[in-house]
Amino acid sequence: MKHKKTILITGGAGFIGSHVVRLFVENYPNYHIYNLDSLTYAGNLENLEDVENKPNYSFLKVDITDERAINKLFDKYQFTSVIHLAAESHVDRSIEDPLAFVKTNVIGTMILLNAFKELWKDDYKNKLFYHISTDEVYGTLGETGLFTETTSYDPNSPYSASKASSDHFVRAYGETYGLPYVISNCSNNYGQNQFPEKLIPLFINNIIHNKPLPVYGDGNYTRDWLYVKDHAIAIDLIFHKGITGETYNIGGFNEWKNIDLINLLCEQMDIALNRPNGSSKKLITYVKDRPGHDLRYAIDASKIKEELGWQPSVTFQQGLKKTIEWYLNNEDWLQSVTSGTYQSYYDKQYN
Ligand code: NAD
Ligand code: DAU
Repeated sequence: MKHKKTILITGGAGFIGSHVVRLFVENYPNYHIYNLDSLTYAGNLENLEDVENKPNYSFLKVDITDERAINKLFDKYQFTSVIHLAAESHVDRSIEDPLAFVKTNVIGTMILLNAFKELWKDDYKNKLFYHISTDEVYGTLGETGLFTETTSYDPNSPYSASKASSDHFVRAYGETYGLPYVISNCSNNYGQNQFPEKLIPLFINNIIHNKPLPVYGDGNYTRDWLYVKDHAIAIDLIFHKGITGETYNIGGFNEWKNIDLINLLCEQMDIALNRPNGSSKKLITYVKDRPGHDLRYAIDASKIKEELGWQPSVTFQQGLKKTIEWYLNNEDWLQSVTSGTYQSYYDKQYN
C-alpha cells in the first residue's frame, strides 16, 4: 500500500512520544509511522505493545546523534515529515550531566535538520519539520503573568538552555533555508507511562513503597499541568492545521503549587490504596532545593484555542485519577523501569 505520508516520530518509545505514536498509528491507517528511538533509560517499547504489529507502524532503533546512521536511513525511507520528540528531558539529570543534553537536544536536532534539508532539497511541498519543545525555554515567571508565544527566551537550566538552542536552530533553518517547520511549547505533562523520575510518577511510586516524598525547597513552586493524551491531541491538530513557521503554546489552564498538588495526590493515593486518611502525607519530606529552580510556569494557550479550536478534554481530577489507576494496575511496568540503573540514579539524587 502506498502511504499518503511517511512520518518519522523521534522519541516515540518515551512518555509523550508513545502517546503520539499510538494516536497517529490508530487514527491514520493511510500514513506510515516510523518510530525512531535509541531506547535510553527513558525509552521503553512496552509502552507500545498494543500497536507494534500494526501494518502502518515500524520501529527503528537509532540514535539521533549518529549522523551516518541517520543519513543512511533517510535515503531508504524518504520521510515526508517528522515530529521530533527525542530528547533528554529531566532537569535534575541536566544539572548533573549538561553535555549529554547538548549532544542529544542540540546536536541531535541539528543532525536531523541537516538530514531533512538534504532529503527534501528545495522541494518543500507537503513537507514539515515539527519540533516539540517546552515552556521552560521562557525561563521563570513571578507570582503573576503568563508565557505567550512572543515571550523572550530566558532559559535557566541546562535542560531548558539545550531545548531553547534547538528551537532557535529549527527557526533559523526555516529563515535561512526555507525549511517548513512548526514548533510547540508545552507545559508539564502527566499521565500513564511517565518515567518515575518526574514529580507525579516518582511520588506515586514512593507512596506505594512507603518511601519519603522529597519536596524541593519550600514546595511553593508552581507548574501548569496537562494530561498527556490532551498534548497528543494538540500535536495532531498542529501537525495537520498549524501554520508553517508559527509557534503554538500548549497548556492545561491548570496551575498548581507543588505542595498543593502533592497534598491532593496523597489524599487520592490513600483512597486508591485503601490506607487510613493522612498516611501518605506523613511521607512528605522537605529536601534541599533544585539549583536554579524556576519559581513558576504558566501558559497562555489562547492562540491554539482560538485558531485551532483545541482545549484540554480531561480535568485535572479526572486525569490524576486515571494516572493513579494506571500505575496501580501496572506495577510490573513500574518495577521493570525502576530496576537496574534507576536505583543508582535515585541514590545519587536523593541520598
Ligand atoms: P522522555 O524522557 O520520556 O522520552 C524521551 C525519548 O527520547 C525516550 O524514548 C528516549 O529513549 C529517546 N531518546 C533520548 N535520546 C535519544 C537519542 N539520542 N536518539 C534517539 N532517541 C533518544 O521525554 P518526554 O517527557 O516524553 O518528552 C518528549 C519531548 O517533549 C521532549 O522533547 C521534551 O523536551 C518535550 N516536553 C516534555 C514535557 C513533559 O512534561 N514531559 C513538556 C513539554 C515538552
Ligand atoms: O514545563 C515542561 C517541563 O516539565 C518539561 O519540559 C520537562 O521535560 C519536564 O521534566 C517538566 O519539568 P519540571 O522540572 O517542571 O518537572 P519535574 O517533574 O522534574 O518537577 C516538577 C516540580 O516538582 C518542580 O518544581 C520540581 C519539583 N520536584 C520534582 C522532583 C522530581 C520536587 O519537589 N521533588 C522531586 O523529587
